[in-house]
Order: sequence, then structure tokens, then C-alpha cells
Amino acid sequence: MVRIQVFDTTLRDGEQSPGASLNELEKLEVARQLDALGVDVIEAGFPAASPGELAAVQEICRQVRRPTIAVLARGNPRDIEAAGEAVKGAARSRIHVFVATSPIHMQYKLRKSPEEVLQIARESVRLAAGLADEVEFSAEDATRSDPDFLCRVFEAVLSAGATIINIPDTVGYATPSEYAELFRYVKAHTSGIERATLSAHCHDDLGLAVANTLAAVEAGARQVEGTINGIGERAGNAALEEVVMALKTRQDRFPFETGIVTEQLYRTSRLVSQLTGIVVQPNKAIVGDNAFAHEAGIHQDGMLKERRTYEIMRPEWVGQAQSRLVLGKHSGRHAVRHRLEELGYQVSDADLAVIYERLMQLADRKKSVTDRDLVALVEEHRTVS
Ligand code: KIV
Ligand code: ZN
Repeated sequence: MVRIQVFDTTLRDGEQSPGASLNELEKLEVARQLDALGVDVIEAGFPAASPGELAAVQEICRQVRRPTIAVLARGNPRDIEAAGEAVKGAARSRIHVFVATSPIHMQYKLRKSPEEVLQIARESVRLAAGLADEVEFSAEDATRSDPDFLCRVFEAVLSAGATIINIPDTVGYATPSEYAELFRYVKAHTSGIERATLSAHCHDDLGLAVANTLAAVEAGARQVEGTINGIGERAGNAALEEVVMALKTRQDRFPFETGIVTEQLYRTSRLVSQLTGIVVQPNKAIVGDNAFAHEAGIHQDGMLKERRTYEIMRPEWVGQAQSRLVLGKHSGRHAVRHRLEELGYQVSDADLAVIYERLMQLADRKKSVTDRDLVALVEEHRTVS
């Protein structure tokens, strides 16, 4: 089966989330967990940013030996040399060079003409190719770039030694069909592209990062980039746990495999949340506390009869303990009896009717009903009757 490479940038793009910065030891702890998770590439940082960042990357290279360690560099010699210095101790190293290619970035940010940008991209990749095992090139703001210019830049960097071509949706602007179309266009109009791995890198400004990543896979991307919990600049990056589980759950649409040990997803999510201080919303797909919780009576009844009625994945697959039937005002008797049995109580139909009625009165007053509440109701009923 064709393998999709998983490129994790939690420690680089993810760390660019406001307030999320990590110290050297914390970065190392996350890198170790990403290794246990089975990602193919860890983008460990941006070494030109600070001496601390350089030191953190060097330590990760020393201690985390299975995945490829990538580092980011802008298209200038100082960044690229710092990148080379950072990854020289890695078991397998990658320098990730990026240069913006959209008219708005070239004119206002870089103040360079397209021809100058083309030359910078080519020379930067050539320099990087001598300093690492492999070079990835990203055309920043690719989705707002002229597709023909993009193809020319890609041809230039391929001949200079890049083997991974990333087409980022830097500002989260593309829609899934547009993004897929761009991949198909690049594949059809760039000579030499068949030797490269195409990569998708999406931001979530319109809430489309995961959908766009999956559309790119359908159009030929064989590397997916993202972060744990979807953290990152502004609205964040594609959430890797979502991309990976979509690929696994929808094998009918995506006949690919990844190296991810999905049972490690929840643990990785908790670690990243704890170290960055960025909380995971309860309804977050895959790793949110409610991702496998069922409250409506109809759903609970369905789950108790056959869990696939309302569950497309098993919580164990992602390392969450088990599905939860949450007791509240939407719960039915069937779920209440089930929970009581789990707590060790066998009750008659008549007792259940009374307990259920009291539970509903309580649920009208409280946001959620706990096991402790339920046990108190049973014990109270037993004392009275
Ligand atoms: O979003 C982006 O364009 C990036 C590049 C550096 C790949 O993060
Ligand atoms: Zn990015």
C-alpha cells in the first residue's frame, strides 16, 4: 500500500501560536512523544530565530534518532547555514527552505521581482542541498501565486536538488476543490515533478485546513503537514490527528497507510496541550473530551444496541479510554439502567421509574449529572422504600 508521509510541525509552526513557546526540555519531551507516535518527519524549529532554538534542535537531533529531523530556513545564506549547523548531528536531516511566490508577498514583503525570487529559490536550495540529507522547498503563499510561475520555481528548485515540494496554503484561503486543482496543475505542468514528493501544508483561517489536506491527498500529495491539536499561526494548522484518522477511517476513499501509532494520539494531544497551555475544546474531533461521549437518549439507546450506530471510530484506536454515555436531561431509561449496572446496582423496573424521574428533575437543575449524583439517588430511594 502507498505510504503517506506524516510531517509534524508542532515544534515549529505550532510553536508560532501566540503564547505557546516551549523551552529546550519541553521541546525534547514533545519530540520524544512524536517519535512514539510514529511521525515520519519532525520539524523541530527555526534555528536562525535564536541560540536557544538552535540548541533545542541540536539536542533533538542527538536524542531522537528514528524520524527525519527538519528545520526551517528562509531563502538566505545566514538562515540556511544555521539550519545546516542545527541538523548536522541528525540520523537523517532535512532543510526546509521557503520563499514567497505570490505577487502580494513578492511586492510588499520581499520587494523582489519574480525573476529575483526564482533565482533566490534556486540558489538557496543549492546551498541547502550541500548541508543536509534532503531539501524540502515551500513556495510560501502558493495558493495566491500564479500557477505558471509556481511551476517555473518548482522546476528550478528541483534541478537545484530539492526532492520534496510543498504547496502551502499559507493564509488558509483555498477551498478543497481549488487546492486539489492546484496540485493537479503543478503535477501536469512541472517537468521533473514525478521524481519529487508533493506535500500539503494548510492553515485553518476558514476552517478548511483538514479538508484541504485530504483534497490534496486525493490529488497526489504524498506528504501531509500539520500540528497536534491543530495549533499554529492565527487559526492554526491542519490538525494531524484529524488528518490521520480520516485517512484510516475512510480507507474506501484513501487507500493509503501512514506510520502513525494512532493509539498514541490522545496522549500526544494531552502532552502538547499541557506544555503549551493551549486547551483542547471538549468537542474537538478525535482528542476532545466529548469526542466519544453520547448524551441524547436516542443515541445512547443506539449505542447500547450496536455501537456502530453512532460511532465511526473506536475510542481505543486513538488512545481515549472508552465511549461515555453522559447522563443528563436527554438520557433515556435504557442508559440509566446500563450505568447503574456498571456501578454495581441491579434495580427493578419500578425502582428504575422512580430513580429516573428524580434524575430528570436533577438534570433540569444541573448541567450534568455525575455518577456520585446517581448513586446518591439510588441510596436515598433505598432508604425511603
Ligand atoms: O504556512 C506556510 O507557508 C509555512 C511555510 C514556512 C511552509 O509555514
Ligand atoms: Zn505554515
